Amino acid sequence: MRILFIGDIVGKVGRETISTLLPRIKQKYRPTITIVNAENAAHGKGITEKIYKQLLRDGVDFMTMGNHTYGQRQIYEFIHEAKRMVRPANFPEEAPGVGMRIIKINDKKLAIINLQGRSFMADIDDPFKKADQLIKAAQKETDYIFVDFHAETTSEKNAMGWYLNGRVSAVVGTHTHIQTADERILDEGTAYITDVGMTGYYDGILGINRDEVITRFITSLPQRHVVPDEGRSVLSGVVIDMNGDGKAQRIERVLINDDHPFE
Ligand SMILES: [Fe+2]
Ligand SMILES: [Fe+2]
Repeated sequence: MRILFIGDIVGKVGRETISTLLPRIKQKYRPTITIVNAENAAHGKGITEKIYKQLLRDGVDFMTMGNHTYGQRQIYEFIHEAKRMVRPANFPEEAPGVGMRIIKINDKKLAIINLQGRSFMADIDDPFKKADQLIKAAQKETDYIFVDFHAETTSEKNAMGWYLNGRVSAVVGTHTHIQTADERILDEGTAYITDVGMTGYYDGILGINRDEVITRFITSLPQRHVVPDEGRSVLSGVVIDMNGDGKAQRIERVLINDDHPFE
């Protein structure tokens, strides 16, 4: 089983990068399944039904979300039917959508879990206890468990990786949009990376036009975030190989931009 996971797709530049680059990346790595984090796919905030369907047409098999899940009002209308999407499982019960889905790939079953951190983020339910519950349920019927932990701090993500070590196949971090170089297989067979990074506008700040962000840091005044529709792009991801016993064997970072061209 090989998972290709691509980090936060930001706006049009991110989406276009997926449609142009994903076929070539898939040809190179031949993943069993391609998962992307799509929380910023629509202008940097949330996702629309049209974009959800377009990403599936472009070769994405499954999507995880994050704190921007409900950034577009439309989500309330289609999330119930979006079978190839999970949103953070530790959101309040009233939040539409589900936090774990189990999918069948050939004769194997993969659980995909989305969780969100609480350090410097919204005060939602405990992601560690939620992980315990979901993993207990998933272990009964799945061969592999994949976790996207959408969190701000390196320490909370590190803690989740070690906490789930040996109980899941992979814990990958998302949300901070900058790829970290700490990918490894933890000693009980869990693939781990603190942050996969984002896919979108390369010359901005986390995929956003830089001028307003810099102005906000200098003046402390609120600024409107602009997500550019064109420009150079970056694609950030990881490829994870897993054994038949659900343990990870290998994790490789994928980073494609003008400074790290695709080969
Ligand atoms: Fe994001
Ligand atoms: Fe986020």
